[in-house]
Amino acid sequence: MTDINALIDRLPKAELHLHLEGSLEPELMFELANRNGIEIPFKSLDDVRAAYEFANLQEFLDIYYVGMNVLITEQDFFDLTWAYLERAHADTVRHVEVFFDPQGHTDRGVALETVMAGICRALDKAEADWGLTSKLILCFLRHLSEEAAFETLEQARPYLERIEAVGLDSSELGHPPSKFERVFAAAAKLGLKRVAHAGEEGPPAYVYEALDLLKIDRLDHGNRALEDLALVERLAGEGMTFTVCPLSNLKLCGVSDLREHPLKRMLELGLKVTVNSDDPAYFGGYVNENFKQTAHAVGLSQAEVIELARNSFTGSFLSAQDIRKHLTEIEAVTQTA
Ligand code: ADE
Ligand code: ZN
Repeated sequence: MTDINALIDRLPKAELHLHLEGSLEPELMFELANRNGIEIPFKSLDDVRAAYEFANLQEFLDIYYVGMNVLITEQDFFDLTWAYLERAHADTVRHVEVFFDPQGHTDRGVALETVMAGICRALDKAEADWGLTSKLILCFLRHLSEEAAFETLEQARPYLERIEAVGLDSSELGHPPSKFERVFAAAAKLGLKRVAHAGEEGPPAYVYEALDLLKIDRLDHGNRALEDLALVERLAGEGMTFTVCPLSNLKLCGVSDLREHPLKRMLELGLKVTVNSDDPAYFGGYVNENFKQTAHAVGLSQAEVIELARNSFTGSFLSAQDIRKHLTEIEAVTQTA
């Protein structure tokens, strides 16, 4: 097992499912609350940790939206993003494709300009300092209306050069992908790629909708697709990349024990799976911790761990040339392991 841990520590990888606002560690939450004079419903770090017990996605989201209220200034968004990038760099992450939730900020009166400036300054610094590259994914909050999503897309027009894709997140049940068919089509017309959370808590029908109506390029979570064999065959045949988040699934009770996590089964079914951390400040681990705990719990082989790392690049939105470069680095690392 330590062999596997050492391999995971050394393997170059990409992270494809990370909500920047979900990387807000309690310590930084307190610091920003003080800096900005914002009230938060926690008195101490212990208070915060005690609150991070979730029975489902909605219980988490209720706290996640409270946490992000402390983000006000450009410097706050820089600090948030930089703290995540430092963790990613320490985990041998070479490329990130990160989500952000503009509506979680603009609806509180924080300008999109402020959000973009802080996030992009940190992303640019990581590339300059370490060669850690990145792409940004603008998510629509699915519990809000499609009209609100259209407004957000309109506000984002000045920043389209910096935005690679649109995504769909927040409360899945009761908010199927079909609700956002038109705004995803509009995003496609603007040249943006498309991803969506589907099958995290929602049924396989939501995954079909994400494929057929939103025309997604990548599937976020997708766990419940396993309930439909024809869907599994289709997703395997299409080579669809799944961004799976094991510790998130555990914390949000998608699985009751990590040993029951379907990651290994997904690989065996021929699905192109990746491992990611989702909201690491809330779910107890960054990407290497997700790899290690899952590898241990479900018994991943070294070859499977390497396949997961390779998938993270081949499933990214990097150019073919950049993907080749990263795969070559993986090969070099595994040959000297
Ligand atoms: N927003 C942040 N994390 C999320 C998750 N795991 N599912 C849906 N929306 C989210
Ligand atoms: Zn997510």
